[in-house]
Amino acid sequence: MDHLLSMKRLGPDGIIRILDRAAELRGGAVPEIGRTHYISNLFFEPSTRTKTSFEMAERRLGLDVIPFEAGFSSTLKGETLYDTVRTLEAIGLDALVIRSPEDRFYKELEGRTSVAIINAGDGSGQHPTQTLLDLFTLREEFGTLEGLKVTIAGDVSHSRVAKSGRDALQMFGADVRILCPPEWQGDFESSEDWEEVLPDSDAVMLLRVQHERHSGEGSFSAHSYHERYGLTAGRAERMKKGAIILHPAPVNRGVEIAGELVEHSRSRIFRQVENGVYVRMAVLETILKGRD
Ligand code: CP
Repeated sequence: MDHLLSMKRLGPDGIIRILDRAAELRGGAVPEIGRTHYISNLFFEPSTRTKTSFEMAERRLGLDVIPFEAGFSSTLKGETLYDTVRTLEAIGLDALVIRSPEDRFYKELEGRTSVAIINAGDGSGQHPTQTLLDLFTLREEFGTLEGLKVTIAGDVSHSRVAKSGRDALQMFGADVRILCPPEWQGDFESSEDWEEVLPDSDAVMLLRVQHERHSGEGSFSAHSYHERYGLTAGRAERMKKGAIILHPAPVNRGVEIAGELVEHSRSRIFRQVENGVYVRMAVLETILKGRD
């Protein structure tokens, strides 16, 4: 594995290898990194979890982390992503973790740089390491991904998490159901009726409403949205025994999920964050070992 760009490119064998290695690392395995590797995190969109989680993973692997602040970089003077990446490659970086508002930002880099690229979220495209940590958390809970019934609820058309999650879960024979307002269904088939999807779902994954990716749409009522499409406390009570709640976060309490459910016994939201560090360690170790 030279880069991590999308779930389809990683494929089922690659996914399983990452999940298995992340489980070993979570169990205390010692990272296997050879020579010194230099890495930088280029975040052109806000992030709390992904950026900090990558930085933690990098430090736990003993990598040399070179600071990069997008808001103080020469991209603000008009430098392209390609020229930025080529510059960092010339300086000696081995790998770049990139979050961009552009769908498939990596297309302009492919075949034109030898630095390893890890997609930390591309616009409304994919969020591969989020999906890997979601799969890890589901497999940790249920022992398998095959046959799981997973409901993804919320703003799916603007969500990279929904798209990379659907792609990956379907590779493993999971039954992915979508619940959302019809205007946000994009290329998904969706339902608006919680009763169609809730009673037999093994997991319900809530998504934040991505107002920053909406343009020219009408007014939004958080209260109405919550009542119609959110996971309310009443709906959580009707989830089946053993079913869990996932959310990539950041969470908007009282919108897509009732505030009291964030730390409910069914919730694995902070477990997802914990697992993300091990998954990212596994991704970086796998890519960098290939460069030794
Ligand atoms: N889940 C996720 O990508 O969160 P951040 O935007 O905080 O990185």
